[in-house]
Amino acid sequence: MATVTTVDNQTQKMIDEIKELSKKRNAVILAHNYQIPIIQDVADFVGDSLGLSQQAAKTDAETIVFCGVHFMAETAAILCPTKRVLIPDLEAGCSLAASIDIDQLLAWKAEHPGAVVVSYVNTTAAIKAESDYCCTSGNALKIVQSIPEDREILFLPDMFLGSWVQKVTGRKNMHIWMGECHVHAAVHPSKIDEKMKEHPDADLLIHPECGCLTPYLDRVVRNGGNGKDVLKVASTEGMINLASSSPTKKFVVATEIGILHRLRKENPEKEFLPISAEMSCQFMKMITLEKLHRSLSQDVYQVTVPEETASRARIAIERMISIF
Ligand code: 13P
Ligand code: SF4
Repeated sequence: MATVTTVDNQTQKMIDEIKELSKKRNAVILAHNYQIPIIQDVADFVGDSLGLSQQAAKTDAETIVFCGVHFMAETAAILCPTKRVLIPDLEAGCSLAASIDIDQLLAWKAEHPGAVVVSYVNTTAAIKAESDYCCTSGNALKIVQSIPEDREILFLPDMFLGSWVQKVTGRKNMHIWMGECHVHAAVHPSKIDEKMKEHPDADLLIHPECGCLTPYLDRVVRNGGNGKDVLKVASTEGMINLASSSPTKKFVVATEIGILHRLRKENPEKEFLPISAEMSCQFMKMITLEKLHRSLSQDVYQVTVPEETASRARIAIERMISIF
């Protein structure tokens, strides 16, 4: 069934004002795939971390309003130092990005001199500045594969994404930081078994941050590959692409529930079932229509990164954008 966000008159008035303000300010509104439906509907672009970074890098707009979490707005500020980057709520953080701080990274690097540092995009600007490469779930595999075999790799901060990349690439000299996202880490493999048993005709879309992914893959191998054909590991944008290009009509979705809005909107004839309705990121949900309106009308909250940090972080991010 198609997803139509119906709005009352007051909400429609607010949407119209947001569009008007955005036009007046020559702004672009970027929204992550986990944002609440109304924010996705009002945004100029909706996408994953990689896609939104690419949009930020090429926009002609003077102001970027980032409806997502803080590290995403910081990435936009690093890529666009001459533009004004706003986030509607400064408290929109990320438990994964908070799982490593700069002192911990510097100590880890000192233990492995000469290692190549690959940081997932869910990190602070200071961490990015100390990294050789940034990656997203959409290109982590390609980035690790592009690093010469004999170089040690420090992969951070997501242990589940890291162990999946290690499994697929067979890389032995890769050290993985034990960080996790509280939303994705909570998915247990038994939950997947249960859901797939209920819906044997469905394909399974799993985000690589999910705690269940590697145990599930191990189980698939133990079952002689049974279940392999329906399993698709993808970033949020990868899921959108897979769902629309596949002839399959039903999907079990193991990631944050915000993505269901776009999946359903763009594929009204298909069925999308969340692995758990509780997979909701409270940080992503902090951005509301009212806060987006305030952001544009009161010019808050600006996200900036000191140029000394930004210039180093930019190199790692630009490598991420060029490999996809
Ligand atoms: P994507 O890059 O796949 O959109 O994921 C971002 C994120 O925060 C996942 O929790
Ligand atoms: Fe961070 Fe997890 Fe929320 Fe993504 S879902 S923004 S990784 S806390």
